[in-house]
This record gives sequence, structure tokens and C-alpha cells, in this order.
Amino acid sequence: MEGEPKASPTDRFPTATSKVQEETEKLIRTLFETAKPQRYTLNRNAHLNFVARFVFQGFPRRYMSQDASQPWLLFWTFQSFQTLGVKFDDGNRTRAVSTVLRYQHPQGGFCGGPGQNAHLLANYAAVCSIAIMGFAGPNGGWDQIDRVKMYEWLMSLKQPDGSFLVSAHAEVDVRGIYCLLVVATLLDIMTPELVEGLDTFLASCQTYEGGFSAASQPYFSASDADTKPNGETLLTYPRPPLGEAHGGYTYCALAALALLEPIKMAETPHQPLRSTTRWMGLNIKRLYRWAASLQGAEVEGGGFRGRTNKLVDGCYSWWVGGLFPILDDIMGEPLMSRDAAGRDTTVDEHGEDEWADDDIESLFNRQALQRFILISSQADTGGLRDKPSKPADAYHTLYNLSGLSAAQHRLHRPPQERERVAKAWKSSWSLPIIKPNGNAVERFPDEVRREIFVTSTSWVEDEPASRYVGGKVNRVNATHPVFDLTMTTTKAFMDHFYAQGI
Ligand code: FPP
Ligand code: ZN
Repeated sequence: MEGEPKASPTDRFPTATSKVQEETEKLIRTLFETAKPQRYTLNRNAHLNFVARFVFQGFPRRYMSQDASQPWLLFWTFQSFQTLGVKFDDGNRTRAVSTVLRYQHPQGGFCGGPGQNAHLLANYAAVCSIAIMGFAGPNGGWDQIDRVKMYEWLMSLKQPDGSFLVSAHAEVDVRGIYCLLVVATLLDIMTPELVEGLDTFLASCQTYEGGFSAASQPYFSASDADTKPNGETLLTYPRPPLGEAHGGYTYCALAALALLEPIKMAETPHQPLRSTTRWMGLNIKRLYRWAASLQGAEVEGGGFRGRTNKLVDGCYSWWVGGLFPILDDIMGEPLMSRDAAGRDTTVDEHGEDEWADDDIESLFNRQALQRFILISSQADTGGLRDKPSKPADAYHTLYNLSGLSAAQHRLHRPPQERERVAKAWKSSWSLPIIKPNGNAVERFPDEVRREIFVTSTSWVEDEPASRYVGGKVNRVNATHPVFDLTMTTTKAFMDHFYAQGI
């Protein structure tokens, strides 16, 4: 960095918010100013030791408050190992699988701990942990997931507007929908009734800023004219977003819509889903601009914040930094076609070219994010953290590492790879799901299952586009932009459930 980075401007009326912003800037600045070259090294061994203690000694007392998030503690740990390129031996894998299987509810789905209620968030963390540590066959975990019971439980959470409760009698939240769609995609239990209404529900959560809030407000009409023959009075419009745009919800909403895209494409093959402004019912340009605006200034070390005017935090390296590979994939084609045609002539209401910055390699500063993670997020004692004033923990260790991965690698889905995977597809048996009344649940036809499979498994690394701040010694594994699993785990797990293995 050259010269002194400018502190954020204030209105000279100090508040708790402006004070903590100033303190955070000072802490980050000091670390950058005093950084020795070795500080730009990823302390791989220290981070491995940090997460290894969770596996071999258990989680310390301070994690007691996360009793209902036990599968998450395991997922953050196992996926940190994967991202750092370390595999477990068979004994520990079997031990991990048997622990996670204790969270499976007898009525379907996984719980936050043994004997608790099944919950969509815990379900994602448990299934992904089993994907990482498990294998096919007896005691391997993969075949002990009760997919039929899980499906029944998922459908028991479905709401009239298409959304899902996160757990019986609980709230609706886009995090739950993301978790549900990841699991249903990985396990090949997507069905028309499961996904019905989800795309419009998700799109309704986009706020005026461009990011997404946790949910949207259902509206019920008292007018007879609005009442459907079944007595339903729920309106599809208006659906104002419930709350503020936030990186965490935005990642979940965007990734969930990316999982729904192949189904939408199959339903409406002649309707283009992508334009320079709209995709899957949302304003993609506004989302892009908002996401880019969340990257902190030089004085904040280039990390991401989760919402407007809040503090930078290492976990948003993934929740916001991880939006870009998905956004780049969505916008790739329109951007490329504009480049080919010369300059875009689209101007906004002020007469300005909205895409004046479209010829740079990425719409966030990948190098700055890597520097932030290395300098501000690494704790000297191992593990990664929110910010220098906070201790390292399992959650921030994983999401800093996942963000580092998103900043180092460029993942994309080139048409040749999509074609290759589609050509190799073997028409396969899909699990029959029988309802309690004896009727079979309608499954997607083989070509839609193939599209779902191709969409998730055709991500590849664009090797020449990799950038490693601090050198290639800092390389972490590429992570799947939608699942946050390695590509190897994703492919092996999906091959198994879509019966594509040899
Ligand atoms: C605000 O916390 C945070 C939230 C309201 C939710 C964040 C959601 C995620 C991180 C996504 C989780 C994803 C899954 C799949 C479970 P805060 O006010 O402490 O933080 P802030 O000031 O940075 O907004
Ligand atoms: Zn955080």
C-alpha cells in the first residue's frame, strides 16, 4: 500500500457504530503497516492444528451455546481440512460418519443434536459432512441417509407461497431454502412439488439495494374477488422483502436460484433466462453493484462487510466474495457478447454507461481480499477470525478459507464441459417416493435430472486465471461455488446418487 489510507469520513457526531468502525480501521491498519513478508503466508499447519483439536479433543466449553448446531461444528471442521488439502484415514472417517448418523431423526432429516428436532440448516451441514467423510456401502453413511423419510419431512415444511419453514412450527428463511435445495440436488430427490413457487418466493426477497433479506411478507386479501376456489386468500403480489439486504441471505438466495435454473430452463426452453439486467426474476445488475459495494476500502484492508455501513468481517469473504463466481457465471455470456460487439451503448437514467468497468478480470478485488484474509483474519495461534479484536473459531476458519479459495481460483462452466458431462450421462433409475396414501410422487423426467446433474458437476477451474497473493504455497483447494464442497467430493457424491458411477 502506498501512503496512508484514508480513514472513513464521519459527521463528527460519534456513535457506538462510528467508534467501533474507527477502532476496527485502526487495528487493521496497524496490522498492515507492521506486516512482515511472512505474514503473507497462509499458516497452513497452525490452521490444521487448530481444527485437528476439535476432532481429536472435542470442542471446548465455549462452543456449548452451539449445542443445536452440532453438525455445523463438524462441517466447518471437515470442510476446512478439505480446503487445506488434507484427507482423513478410514478409521476417523467411520468415526465421523457414525457421529453424524446419530443426528438423523427417525421421522426423516437431520437434527442439530441427538434427540432434537430435524432442521433444514442442520440437515445441510449433516449431509455435507457425510458427503465429505463418508462412502458408499454399509456404515459408510452415504447409503444410511433415509432419502424417502427426508423427502416426507421436507414436504411437511412446505408453505402455500412455495417457501419452507426451517423446522416444524418455526420460521421461513432463505437460508433454509438454500440448505434444502443443496440437499435435494445432491441426493437426487428434487421433484416438481418440492420446488413449486420457490423461484418467485426467492426473487421477492430482493431489496431495493440489490441484495436479499431473510424472507418476504405474505399478503392475504379479504376480498372475495381474490379468493381462490380452494378458499386460499394469499396474494402473489405485493410481497415486500422482510428486512435488510445481507450477504448471508444473499448468498443463500442466489445459490438457491442457481440450483433452480436448470429446472426453469427445462420448463420454458424458448424463453431466454438471462439478459444483462434480469435473471430468474431478479435484477442481476443491482445485485452485482451491491455485492461489489460491500468490499471494504483500503483502510479496512479490502475485506467484505455483510451489509451497508457495517464492519468488515472475515466470514463475508465467502458469503459475499462467494457471490462473484455465481454472478460471473450468470453474466458471463452477456458480458462476453458485449465485448465482442465493442462497447455497450446501454446508458442509465443519468446518461452514464452503466458498465464502464466491464473489461476488468473480476468485479471484486481478488488480490485485496486475499491480503485481508492473510493479514487481518489469520490468528497467530492458528485458526481464522472475524477481525483482529476477535478470537479464531470454527465458523470463521472455514468461511475465510472458502473466501480465500473464491479469490484465488476462477471457476466457470464452459459450454464444452457442459456438453462433455451431458454426453457422458447415463439414463438412470430415480428413487421412487411413495406418499402415505400409496401414490407415487411425480419425479422430474430423465432429461431434467440430467440438466440438474450437469449444472452442478460441470464447474471447472480456469487455471491461467488463478491468482495467489503470497505465492502458490498459499494455494487452497477450489470449492464448489454453490455447495462449498470440493469438486472431487461433489462429483463422487452426485455420481453415487444419480447412479452415474462406473
Ligand atoms: C447478522 O449478524 C447476520 C445475519 C442476520 C444472518 C447471516 C446469515 C448468514 C451468515 C448465512 C448463513 C448461511 C447458511 C447456509 C446457514 P450481525 O448483525 O452480528 O453481523 P453484521 O453486523 O456483520 O451484519
Ligand atoms: Zn463473521
